[in-house]
Amino acid sequence: MLCEVTGARYAVAVSSGTAALHLSCLGLGLGIGDRGIVPGITFAATANCLRYVGADVEFCDVDECTGLASPQSFQTAIEASDSVKALLPVSYSGAMPDLEGIAKVASNAGAFVIEDAAHSIGATNEAGVRSGSCEWSDAAILSFHPVKHVCAGEGGAILTNDETLARRVRRLRTHGIEPREDWLYDQAELGYHYRMTDLQAALGVSQLARLPEFVARRRELVFRYRQAFSEAPFASRIRIANTDLGSSHHLFVVHFSGEAERKAAYEFFHKKNVRVQVHYMPVYRHSYYANSSVKSLSGVESFYSGCLSLPLYPSLEDEEQTYVIECLRAFLNR
Ligand SMILES: Cc1ncc(COP(=O)(O)O)c(C=O)c1O
Repeated sequence: MLCEVTGARYAVAVSSGTAALHLSCLGLGLGIGDRGIVPGITFAATANCLRYVGADVEFCDVDECTGLASPQSFQTAIEASDSVKALLPVSYSGAMPDLEGIAKVASNAGAFVIEDAAHSIGATNEAGVRSGSCEWSDAAILSFHPVKHVCAGEGGAILTNDETLARRVRRLRTHGIEPREDWLYDQAELGYHYRMTDLQAALGVSQLARLPEFVARRRELVFRYRQAFSEAPFASRIRIANTDLGSSHHLFVVHFSGEAERKAAYEFFHKKNVRVQVHYMPVYRHSYYANSSVKSLSGVESFYSGCLSLPLYPSLEDEEQTYVIECLRAFLNR
């Protein structure tokens, strides 16, 4: 089903999106002495997978409006680093970056591309290419964490068009073991227990069948937010981060004028029982990454300073969304 939905030739289900990232790095042979480039705005797991295999992490800048990393931002990061072996573009918020351009940059640098498509199952780019299709990547990963489009309790998948890579990650997800004949099996390398359970898979399968319905509802909700926010007092006070083009709309992100106003809005919403969230604090600001050569990237900092994600999920009722919009109106008019 994952192959049908994404267009990738092979799909390997695993226990989480993080496991999928880890196995993609292992399967592509990344290790000590290698380096991968990750956008500054993403969930920490996109960077951590490189550390799991002993590779170093460098961060690249993102567009201050969309949060997406461009081919040029990867190129700039490559020029500042040695031994770059992987680029990990993130289809942030459900919108695909320019993967074709990023693949060209990667090919010139002799690096692999792993699309982190944890936010973007069901998305397409302007040419109709599907997120996760691996048209311009060596592998793509999905997450089936409860807040994602397709929930399997927890879960993830590696997508690829490369038969050898698919076979390798399948082996790595189950201890590095492959069956032989009869009772015999062989552990050819050190693998992990990263299998998805049948219970998770059953939930994932039923959710996947409803993906078009989920994405359609998310689009409807984004349209309603956009309509409301095109008028006063919203239009002059907040900026909408999302690009609509083919996005499957995992997040609906708005920008406030700066960190102080964003914090005030966050607290205001929470007092009104509206769960808003910040996606994400720049990964290089985590103390674990304090030794990173990158301390600040202008697009990343600008994106982070004002961003706030408003509620967006298929079961959000129109009246509930209207309440969110009215809370924001009250905040801006306070
Ligand atoms: C962009 C991104 N990458 C990777 C992951 C990791 O996925 P999981 O939570 O399934 O391990 C997440 C999960 O939140 C994510 O948002």
